[in-house]
Amino acid sequence: MIFTILTLFPGIFESPLNESLIKKAREKGLLEFNIVDIRAFAADIHHTADDAPFGGGAGMVMKVEPVHYAMEQVRKDQPRPHFVLLTPHGRRFDQESAAGFSHIPHLALLCGRYEGVDERIHSLVDDEVSIGDYVLSGGETAALVVVDAVSRLVPGVLGNEASPADESFSRGLLEYPQYTRPREFMEMQVPEVLLSGNHEEIRRWRRKQSLKRTILRRPDLMERFQPTREDEIMMRQVLEEIE
Ligand code: 6GU
Repeated sequence: MIFTILTLFPGIFESPLNESLIKKAREKGLLEFNIVDIRAFAADIHHTADDAPFGGGAGMVMKVEPVHYAMEQVRKDQPRPHFVLLTPHGRRFDQESAAGFSHIPHLALLCGRYEGVDERIHSLVDDEVSIGDYVLSGGETAALVVVDAVSRLVPGVLGNEASPADESFSRGLLEYPQYTRPREFMEMQVPEVLLSGNHEEIRRWRRKQSLKRTILRRPDLMERFQPTREDEIMMRQVLEEIE
């Protein structure tokens, strides 16, 4: 999968895309990144990429022409890019959006700047996303969030193909508690069941813990959750336990 990132701050992407999972995936040829400096497409000698808003007011607005020319350049690449603007006005990015993006061969992420982009830029893109209800100084960190969430769904990127579906959100629940050695730390014990070697009991314990955690911490997720018969029984037990 190819990611192209169009930004006024290409330096931001240097280390995050050269570490850990993404680094390994690039080395395996599973992911490819192009970082495009929008400023290089500004026509004037000062390479002006933003300007004061018409009508007055504070802050600067990202100019439309450099973005247009940068996009034209990226459009020449194969496969054809799907352009997504990162903006607080976009639809909320979630695990479902990540799964959708992971099937796109060439995702081009356009990083808006926080104060705003010329409204005509919106008509140039295919899609617009926001990563949550808080203010970021630019779309760059949001683009990194999208890259991270999408990359790990690209086949082969995670060593263990089984794990993405196992995680929080992918089945609509939070993850169960995890432990590793030592068995005791500052008088805090690892739950006995995890040391039992009884796989069925462990599976049931984990499922119930996932349900409990989600009910307590993210009740909003339960509204969309479709329980099995077993889940319903466990949910009733959880509700009795927390009363
Ligand atoms: Cl995509 N951009 C900015 N500037 N702020 C945000 C955001 C994006 N998503 C949440 N806050």
